[in-house]
Amino acid sequence: MKKAFITRRLPDEALAIVAAACNYEIWDSAEEPVPRALLLEKLRDADGVLCLISDRVDAEVLDHAPRLRIVANMAVGYDNIDLAALRARGVALTNTPDVLTDATADLAWALLLAAARRVVEGQKLIEADSWRYWAPLFMVGQDLQRATLAVVGAGRIGAAVLRRAQGFNMRLIYHNRRPNAELEAQTGASYRTFAALLQEADFIVVTVPLSAETRGMFGASEFALMKPNAVFVNVARGPIVDEAALYEALKAGRPWAVGLDVFANEPIRADHPLLTLPNVVAVPHIGSATLNTRIAMATLAARNLAAALTDQPLITPVVPGA
Ligand code: NAP
Ligand code: GLV
Repeated sequence: MKKAFITRRLPDEALAIVAAACNYEIWDSAEEPVPRALLLEKLRDADGVLCLISDRVDAEVLDHAPRLRIVANMAVGYDNIDLAALRARGVALTNTPDVLTDATADLAWALLLAAARRVVEGQKLIEADSWRYWAPLFMVGQDLQRATLAVVGAGRIGAAVLRRAQGFNMRLIYHNRRPNAELEAQTGASYRTFAALLQEADFIVVTVPLSAETRGMFGASEFALMKPNAVFVNVARGPIVDEAALYEALKAGRPWAVGLDVFANEPIRADHPLLTLPNVVAVPHIGSATLNTRIAMATLAARNLAAALTDQPLITPVVPGA
């Protein structure tokens, strides 16, 4: 039997799938990431690895893993993996698309509504025992109806974000590298150039993958183009946003508020500058964090690992491998 290494405790359903296909070892912690040195050691005689976005799989890891044939990432994003290094060694990569689309789109909307209607700021005000009056302009927020919702990177998750706008009577626009007629027919969204989208949108949701092209895509000049009432939501990856520029932009008044699930260096600490601003809603990378979704992600990753190690076709391949 082939041998696999799993880098975090997984639901039993997923472990049963792996156990039926191969021998495996596991870093059996529900929370702490596997120490890098242990990962390198465990991969010495492993044919496959099931890993998470917090595990960096690069040339160093692959050089320690001469037998490795499959990296099954338990995430749809795979910016933690060095694709070129994998390709060079003929190692296959799989991810977990689709099964997390709805949960992540729901979280984008949770952040959008919380930022627009000052939900977290309101709770903090009550907790500080500072609520004194009901007043006409007390804690007013932004309207959704008749506002323009924009998605940058309208793929699986972005399209689901657009579909969820139906009940809110919003205008929908999006920006991808190229227009997508099918998406437009499905959602009613219209294509915009990036600059036009930034200038027109009242709500901007980012669901673009992190790549060389999208790293730092939102910086000082992009925030300066936004409307003063704009609400900006990032559920994609932290490095797509220049956080220092975002901090300055928020202090200067545009965007009006933000909702962030992802950060440049995760996990962030309580002294992160963005957390000092009242109009920042921040959550700890929980886009796909519902029980059913996480079980679906883990079992899909396990099925991919098992398929590779029993010479079956991969279910959701990113790099087919050699
Ligand atoms: P997807 O279906 O591949 O969608 C990505 C979209 O981005 C595509 O429609 C693509 O369209 C567009 N795109 C790619 N590069 C672009 C660029 N340079 N400029 C503009 N648009 C670009 O991926 P998905 O399943 O929706 O996932 C998207 C990302 O969400 C993942 O990569 C991951 O980083 C993130 N994510 C986060 C969480 C969380 O917990 N917060 C959960 C799941 C996923 P074109 O090819 O036409 O440009
Ligand atoms: C989570 O961030 C993912 O990419 O699945």
